Formats: sequence, structure tokens, C-alpha cells
Amino acid sequence: MATMAAEKVEMTLRHVEDGFVERLQATLAARGVEPAALDRVLAGEPLVRTLRLLDSRGAILYPRAVSDADRAVARRLAAAALAGRGAPGRRTIVLDGERWIVVTVSARAADTLLAAFAYDADVLRRDVLAASLASLESATIFVVVDEQGRPVWAPASLDGAERLLSVAFRDALPNWQLAVYQPAGNAPREAVRRQVTIFMAAFVVLCAVIVAGIAVTWRLMRRETEMARLKSDFVANVSHDLKTPLSVIRMFGETLEMGRVSDEPRRQEYYRVITREAERLSRLIDNVLDFSRIESGRRRYDIVPTAVEPLVRETLEAFAYPLAQQAFKVEVTIAPDLPEVPMDPEAVGQALANLVDNAIKYSAEDRVLTVQAHVDGDDLVLVVADHGIGIPRAEQVRIFDKFYRAGRSETQGRRGSGVGLALVRHVAEAHGGSVTVVSAPGEGSRFILRLPLAERGAHGDA
Ligand SMILES: Nc1ncnc2c1ncn2[C@@H]1O[C@H](COP(=O)(O)OP(=O)(O)OP(=O)(O)O)[C@@H](O)[C@H]1O
Ligand SMILES: [Mg+2]
Repeated sequence: MATMAAEKVEMTLRHVEDGFVERLQATLAARGVEPAALDRVLAGEPLVRTLRLLDSRGAILYPRAVSDADRAVARRLAAAALAGRGAPGRRTIVLDGERWIVVTVSARAADTLLAAFAYDADVLRRDVLAASLASLESATIFVVVDEQGRPVWAPASLDGAERLLSVAFRDALPNWQLAVYQPAGNAPREAVRRQVTIFMAAFVVLCAVIVAGIAVTWRLMRRETEMARLKSDFVANVSHDLKTPLSVIRMFGETLEMGRVSDEPRRQEYYRVITREAERLSRLIDNVLDFSRIESGRRRYDIVPTAVEPLVRETLEAFAYPLAQQAFKVEVTIAPDLPEVPMDPEAVGQALANLVDNAIKYSAEDRVLTVQAHVDGDDLVLVVADHGIGIPRAEQVRIFDKFYRAGRSETQGRRGSGVGLALVRHVAEAHGGSVTVVSAPGEGSRFILRLPLAERGAHGDA
């Protein structure tokens, strides 16, 4: 675009110049060197400010009134122009105080004359440069600069603008250049700065994403490690829980086998211990098997209308021995006229057994077990409460998670696999009900199992 603009200036200038030289030549051919006629030619072309006609030695033929300095310039112009000798119309540019264009012309009387003329700078700016360049539609600014690089013509202020490139005019304006400027704020440096800012922002976002990714991965890894630890604890706890009743059964069995126990009441007591430990074993194995069924999604529930009171009493029956042995005060309150409730009796019995087992296991000095059954709204509510060690608030949500055992239970020597409450919750939810806990450390716990009176919610292998 800059090259085309320079070409346009060049062509405009050459057009004016050729017209002038043609008129001059015609006048000279018709009238010879006649000052009045030449004055008219000069006046007819505003772009040309000064005109001299010289002979081949550099003597000034027109105008008449000239200074010595003018004569010296004229000689130098003639010398420079004739050094390149040529046909009429040949054109030489000489910089001597002014920018002189020297062309060979012929007049009637003389053979060959030299016409030297110089432009009027203001007219050049207004009629040529402004006319050719001002109309250019561009985001950049086109500026004409002289041989010293000073702007000769600019369409707008160059404050803060940045020079991008420049192209030379060919022979119409030798040594001058057309420079292209980028307006302030639009400069490439500005654009680069903007791009750098965008890249930096993108980089920061990328870093943030990477950091977030690392954090998430780290948390996942921690959760996985925690789960792996819980699982290995689970295996250790289950093995231990299996071994304890087995060794008791074995010890009492062997004692009886040896026939050393002579009195009948002691023998009866030993049989009871064996039965109780065997019951404990099957409860534990049921728990683990059910848990594994739940985990693999194979646990099914057979929902049938069930009488509540016998279920509660039977469950408690299984704990009669440990309750009696540990001198528990047992308070059972079952509301009269409870309707039959749709449930899987085995599953609910097992859930209840887990709650009672916990109440016994996590008891303290004050050994009280409260079991209640009543209707509240549309639900059957089963409550198992104790005056035991209680559960800190922070742990109350997590105890229903699989494998989770509150930290203190271990240190207090109470073993367990940590799946009991996970099972209770699964049973409750499979019946469309819920299990919640109200507890405070040192004050005991109250587990509330709610089962809907009418079948609702998901059940089966939920
Ligand atoms: N009645 C309770 N009083 C105090 N803490 C309890 C009580 N019931 C449960 N917890 C706490 O909740 C944790 C989870 O109980 P959960 O029954 O699921 O597992 P567990 O009793 O440790 O093992 P198991 O699977 O053999 O029942 C227990 O480890 C215990 O810390
Ligand atoms: Mg338990």
C-alpha cells in the first residue's frame, strides 16, 4: 500500500511537471526566449516557483534580473545537467540550495537550452501530497519525509506514533521517502504487550488448573489409602472376632469332653456359654455375608407384614445372657396395638440386633438398655438407647459409613468390624425409612430406626 501511495504521488507530480515542460517548450518554439511569454507560462503553473533558462555554458537567459549568487548556481546546474547530456526532455535533479529540476529544451534561435525550475513547497504539499495521500483509508498514517528524515507533510499529529517502515519515491522526489506510522496505542508493541498479557493470564489459569488437579488427585489418593487401611483393619477385626468365640467354644467343649465337670448346674452353664458364643459367631458371619451382598448389589429383601412385638422380643432374647451377665437394666416399652408393618423380618431383626450389640459393647458404668417401639405419624419408630460412652458430634455422620469405627472404641478395647451400622442404614433405606442418632460423649446414645407403616420407597436389592 505504501509503494502504491508513493507511485501515486510520483505520477501526480510527473503529470504536472510534464504539462509545464510541454507548455514551456511550446512557448519557446513559438516565441523564443521572450520574458513576457515566459512570465505567463510560469504564472500558469502554481507548483513551479522559480524558473531559469540557461544556455549550455550556464549563462542565464531568463529572467533578466538575477544576482551573482543566482549566476553561480546556474553554472553549476548547467554543468551537472550537461554532464549527463541527452535528448530534449531529458531530466536531471540537482540539489543546490533548492531541489532543481533541469530539463533540456529547444528554442527557435538557440539550439539547446536548459530550463531549470524549482517547486513551491507549500503548493507541493497542498496540491500534490495532500491531494494524493489524504484520501487514503488506512489504520496507519502516511507521512512524507525529506532527506534528513523530517516530516514534510503529515495528515495528522504524530505524537506517540511509531514508524513502521518507509519506501523511497523514485525519481520525482529523490531522497524523499514515504513513511508509514502506526498511531499511538495501536502500535505493534502495544499489541505485543496485549498478547503477552493474554498469554500470562492463560498461563496463570493453566497453572491454577494444574494445581487444582494435583489437589484433587492428592485427595483421591488419600481417600483410597484411607479405604485400603480401613479394609485391612476390617479383615484383622473380623478374624479376631471369629477367633474369640471359637476359642471359647473349643475350651468349654474340651473341658466337657474330658468329663471333669461333675455338677450338673456348671455343665448347664458351659452348654449355655457354647450356645451363646455360637450365636455370636453366626451373627458375625451373617453381618459379613450380608455386607458383602450389599456391596455387590445382591442383597434382596422379602417384605411381608410383620408383627413388631415378637420380633423385638426375639431379638432381645438372643442377648439375654450378656445382658444378664453384665447386670444391664433393660427397659422395653412396646406400644399396645401396633399394626403389622411391611418389612423383611430377618433384616430388621438383624439391624435391631446390631443396635443392641452396640449398646452393650459401648456401655459404661451405668448399664441401661432402653428399647422402644411406637408409631409416629406414618412411621414405625424403633429406639435403642444406652447410657454408654456416647459419640462425639463430628463422628456421628461417619459411623454409618462402611468400615468406619470411631477412634476411641479401639483404645477402649472394644473390637468390631465396623460394618454394623452401615448394614442398619442399608436395611432402613431399603425399606424407605431412615436411621439417625442422638448422642453426646459420656451421656449415652439413642439410635432411632424409622420404617414406614405403608410400603413406600425403594426396596429389593437397593
Ligand atoms: N451405642 C453406641 N455408643 C457409642 N458408640 C457407638 C455406638 N454404636 C456405634 N458406635 C460407634 O460407631 C462405630 C461404628 O459402629 P458399627 O456397629 O458400624 O461398627 P462396630 O460396632 O465397630 O463393628 P461391628 O461391625 O462388629 O458392629 C463403632 O465403632 C463405635 O465407635
Ligand atoms: Mg456394631
